[in-house]
Amino acid sequence: MVTPIIRIKDIAWIRLRSPDLDKAEEYLTTFGLVRAERSGDKLYMRGTDPSHHIHITEKGDPAVLRIAFWAQSLEDLHKLSREGDGASAVEDLDEPGGGKRVRIREHNGMELEVVWGVESAAPLQAEANAFNFGANKTARPGKLLRVEHRPSLVKRIGHVVISTPEIEKSVAWAQRHLGIVASDDVHMEDDPDTLLASFNRVDAGPDYVDHHVMMFGRHASSGMNHVSFEVQDFDDLATGHDTLMQKYPDLHLWGLGRHTLGAQVFDYWMDPWGRVHEHWTDTDVLNNSHEYRKHPKSTGLHSQWGPQAPQAFRDAASR
Ligand SMILES: [Fe+2]
Repeated sequence: MVTPIIRIKDIAWIRLRSPDLDKAEEYLTTFGLVRAERSGDKLYMRGTDPSHHIHITEKGDPAVLRIAFWAQSLEDLHKLSREGDGASAVEDLDEPGGGKRVRIREHNGMELEVVWGVESAAPLQAEANAFNFGANKTARPGKLLRVEHRPSLVKRIGHVVISTPEIEKSVAWAQRHLGIVASDDVHMEDDPDTLLASFNRVDAGPDYVDHHVMMFGRHASSGMNHVSFEVQDFDDLATGHDTLMQKYPDLHLWGLGRHTLGAQVFDYWMDPWGRVHEHWTDTDVLNNSHEYRKHPKSTGLHSQWGPQAPQAFRDAASR
């Protein structure tokens, strides 16, 4: 196993480019994000968690500009700048929230930014429902549950998935430069040596983290397969689904269902320019006592319930 240059703390944001910021904001608001700031040609959207922003749109031709990850320290940014292949200097982030970053291209040439010191914001209010089931049958004694018809309330950005023809090299690059570790891999049904997908998590030692922060899927072309956002709970996901379905029925891609690896309850939507955005709630959380496993495609990439992945989802690779 390679010694990583740094170990990222989490994913920070996605930076896209879109030709129409009004249209982008309308879509993202219906998706469940909240405007943090909008200047002439940039739109910053946030969730209810304290991150200043988790989604940036710059005005221009459609593109996936950068995927951002949190460094643990300023020293780590300097280390990545010194030791990362083709890394930029440590730069000031000249935008709302401030902070510093290092730009670097991953194995497929997609640009990443590793950031530190960006201001946080006060969390936004989000009511958590209690559920009267399982061992806690009276978690909501006498209280009536009523689900409002409204967009989801996105909490935070959760992970990104990269489509890549050279999956082994892509994973090796990310494990060395970002310090992520494999939770589960998926191989071709009858060929354990051909890797199809690799689910990697933040390495936080004994602390529990999401099953994956970055996943790679083998595909003929490279690009972003999807970017993923955690919502509050099941009702929040479902009412957000209904709200999006009313306004953008043609943009629904896949869901609702529950994945096997990671076990999230998921719902996938394209944005107006075809970039896939996921809602999910509930995930397996793992720490360094998790035993890495390899699965055949038929079990690893199977939905535990709900529909299986459509071809349009498997082919998503936005640049
Ligand atoms: Fe996902």
